[in-house]
Amino acid sequence: MKKTRDGTMDVVIVGLGFGLDFIPVYASHPGIDRVGICDPDVEKLASVARRYGVEDTFTSLNEVLESDRFDAVHLLTPVTLHASQAVEVLRSGRHVASAVPMGLTFEEIGQVIQAARSSGKNYMMMETAVYQREFFYVQELLRSGQLGDVTFLRGAHIRDRTTMPQYWRAFPPMKYATHVISPLLALQNSRAESVRAFGSGTLRDHQLGDHGNPFPLETAVFTLEDSNVKMEVTQGCFNVARTAQEGFSVYGDTMSVEWPPVEEEDGLHVFTMYPEAEEARERFRRVEFDVVHPPDRVAHLPEEVRMFSRPAVFSPHPSLPAIDVPSHHGGSHPHLVHEFITSIAEGRKSRIDEFTAADWCAAGVAAHDSALHEGEKVDIPDFRRSTLAWGWKDLGGCRP
Ligand SMILES: NC(=O)c1ccc[n+]([C@@H]2O[C@H](COP(=O)([O-])OP(=O)(O)OC[C@H]3O[C@@H](n4cnc5c(N)ncnc54)[C@H](O)[C@@H]3O)[C@@H](O)[C@H]2O)c1
Repeated sequence: MKKTRDGTMDVVIVGLGFGLDFIPVYASHPGIDRVGICDPDVEKLASVARRYGVEDTFTSLNEVLESDRFDAVHLLTPVTLHASQAVEVLRSGRHVASAVPMGLTFEEIGQVIQAARSSGKNYMMMETAVYQREFFYVQELLRSGQLGDVTFLRGAHIRDRTTMPQYWRAFPPMKYATHVISPLLALQNSRAESVRAFGSGTLRDHQLGDHGNPFPLETAVFTLEDSNVKMEVTQGCFNVARTAQEGFSVYGDTMSVEWPPVEEEDGLHVFTMYPEAEEARERFRRVEFDVVHPPDRVAHLPEEVRMFSRPAVFSPHPSLPAIDVPSHHGGSHPHLVHEFITSIAEGRKSRIDEFTAADWCAAGVAAHDSALHEGEKVDIPDFRRSTLAWGWKDLGGCRP
């Protein structure tokens, strides 16, 4: 493996679907020397290598791990592979970043924690939702006290996955609820303790698949540790005729913020309650409504990657054509890459380390279990309790 003489490291991006968005960010980051790519689809691998000017290519994760040069691996492979591949990478003595979710069962989540702890290498779950500009904005309102006391949290992620790759077929919705659960738990700096959930609707016979899930959509209410606030989450994967929705709402007693439920619509809906004394004689309290377009928070990012928080143009090499780089997920990609790299360089845990990722993903696993049992209360395991050596409060939960 590379000895980081010059303070840089080498990384391999595994999985070249969503993974494409990350090549320019790693390639531009001053903390990275070489970027390799890996995909079993040899045609795709060759064409991406040509287009992005990448020299190190691999057709399997094994090949990557057998090579002697890469310090870190970023997994952007099918959801069913994340846990086993993360364990392999950690056991090989490399750092690993993984697309969401961390794992699909409590056992898988536990295995990743175990591998991270025994290897001493960094695990980071690359949850885009907690590095979006909208998240930063709401987090600031909360920290500054402007929202007042939080009364309720709500989130929904609805996107039809019928035409997506085979592994999504009849996927249990709550096992992919991390884009909603994660920002809400991060904002509350809490973990979910228990859940009651229900499935809604029916998957048709031809839609059923290997996951044993009968529901197109699941909806859940979570209790939070040391809190009276409840969190309501809906995750729909099939049979909902709607454009994509992914967002959350936080309701405080002086201000509330709703992420607009239409993906194409920009801006957050912000509501501010007038002080009681001013409208005491009115039937309803007055509430001011604003649409806010949160700014980018890129000041802490290296100059070279700031541009990737918005659609950008990447020039891989003077001899190659420039490439348009989209900026999905609220400008989060450069933040995620920067946090992964700097956590390793600084010798600290990543902000979405194995325990934080476990909190966010185990909540969804428990919710699906509850839905399968008609809303029975299911307790969500606290993985720190069985591995007390780490203090998660000390690690700061997620504090981007
Ligand atoms: N906002 C987000 O965080 C976000 C957004 C999109 C996708 N994702 C996640 O990123 C991951 C990738 O998403 P996608 O849409 O590109 O998926 P995809 O299935 O379209 O592409 C996955 C890629 O991985 C490759 N692959 C398959 N098996 C492999 C293996 N064993 N080793 C190496 N590569 C392998 C495939 O050839 C393919 O190129 C998924 O887990 C998805 O859930 C997260």
